[in-house]
Amino acid sequence: MKNNQNPSITSLFKLFNAPLHLSNLLSLTLFFLFGLCFGIILTFHLKNVQFNLQFTQFNSTAGADAGSGNGNGNISVPVTSPPPAPERVGLKTYLTPEKMMHDMTDEELIWRASVVPKVREYPYPRTPKVAFMFLTRGPVVLSEMWEMFFKGYDGLFTIYVHSSDSSANVTVPEDSVFYGRRIPSKEVEWGKVNMIEAERRLLANALLDFSNQRFVLLSEACIPLFNFSTVYTYLMNSKHNFVESYDLEGPVGRGRYSPKMAPIVDIEEWRKGSQWFEMDRDLAVEVISDKKYFSVFHDFCDGQCYADEHYLPTFVTKLFGETNSNRTLTFVDWAKGGPHPTKYNRNDVTEEFLQKLRNDRSCEYNGKKNQICHLFARKFTSHALDRLLRIAPKLMQFNL
Ligand SMILES: *[C@@H]1O[C@H](CO)[C@@H](O)[C@H](O)[C@H]1NC(C)=O
Ligand SMILES: *[C@@H]1O[C@H](CO)[C@@H](O)[C@H](O)[C@H]1NC(C)=O
Ligand SMILES: *[C@@H]1O[C@H](CO)[C@@H](O)[C@H](O)[C@H]1NC(C)=O
Ligand SMILES: *[C@@H]1O[C@H](CO)[C@@H](O)[C@H](O)[C@H]1NC(C)=O
Ligand SMILES: *[C@@H]1O[C@H](CO)[C@@H](O)[C@H](O)[C@H]1NC(C)=O
Repeated sequence: MKNNQNPSITSLFKLFNAPLHLSNLLSLTLFFLFGLCFGIILTFHLKNVQFNLQFTQFNSTAGADAGSGNGNGNISVPVTSPPPAPERVGLKTYLTPEKMMHDMTDEELIWRASVVPKVREYPYPRTPKVAFMFLTRGPVVLSEMWEMFFKGYDGLFTIYVHSSDSSANVTVPEDSVFYGRRIPSKEVEWGKVNMIEAERRLLANALLDFSNQRFVLLSEACIPLFNFSTVYTYLMNSKHNFVESYDLEGPVGRGRYSPKMAPIVDIEEWRKGSQWFEMDRDLAVEVISDKKYFSVFHDFCDGQCYADEHYLPTFVTKLFGETNSNRTLTFVDWAKGGPHPTKYNRNDVTEEFLQKLRNDRSCEYNGKKNQICHLFARKFTSHALDRLLRIAPKLMQFNL
């Protein structure tokens, strides 16, 4: 009975006491230690994995700073309010380019600007603007007068300056309407075909802004003859474009035509006119998209041909004649003869003189007689600026 009382203990005791089973005991102990170590290592490892997992998840979801987890796995969760609803972008970046300076090539620019929406109704309240495009050698020397002209009419105009002289840019103060309005420009030689390229570059840059509806080309020697509201109303309500165009016999007219231009341009289709144009959006797109006529002028009307006086008048009259008024809005005086028009200096600028330019005769406007023939005038030198600033704002009723 005594022996049977605890058989398991007896057998265990037997086991301990039996020298035969000593090796068995050792292996058991080793096995136990090994298991213990394995367990410890595994636990530690798993803990690490879990920590890493948590850390990675946190990092990728909340984008938190990697330093926010400490050695204890204590990760401080930053208390953030839910992110504000992102501001709606909609068409914003598409309708108005953010920066004047871009790195598109002329070819890329013209292609992009020639894109016309097939849906002609705008899906947003569109306020039509006038694009004032200044083709200059250096700075816009009469800019102070233009500043007064534009004052109070933000949102109704956009300014573009093509200036071959890049140093012109540095002199523009930050609060000027001309600040940062220079477009990527290239060399321009007066009379050369690259002048037309500059005009196309101005048109194309201005077309990128879908609100621009009328496009006027000006030089640094141009001044406005009326206040902004008169100019804006006149242009917006016009049913016609203003590209001067006439047929002229003699050396400075048909004499500049080259028979090599036939059959794309015949001599009867050859026209002359001032380069200072004003046109609507539809015609502007047609002008920049033209390759056929432009390449003919490029090849056969460079240098003494003065392509800028013939390309647009010929192109517009041949293809879009019925949309054209055939006159220019920019007054210039060729009465003295010679290759250059009259320049106006300080002493030329009087109230009577400016008044004469404003209402010297009457012109046809939308099929009716109108007191206004010209909205702009040239050529004024920088010496005339003082007097202009003194006389013009009052005479022209600027909004000051
Ligand atoms: C973790 O966040 C840091 C800092 O925000 C970031 O630099 C790193 O790329 C992120 N790593 C992963 C895997 O998201
Ligand atoms: C965890 O981190 C927070 C902020 O760093 C600290 O206030 C808190 O005492 C920490 N908790 C532990 C248990 O370390
Ligand atoms: C002209 O000035 C504007 C404003 O400082 C600047 O953004 C632009 O890059 C300049 N352009 C050139 C050609 O220097
Ligand atoms: C602009 O000038 C015209 C005359 O040309 C005048 O009737 C009109 O009141 C002026 N507009 C403003 C806003 O001063
Ligand atoms: C301008 O000239 C074109 C072509 O000769 C003609 O069709 C158009 O009617 C003219 N415009 C005006 C306003 O007379």
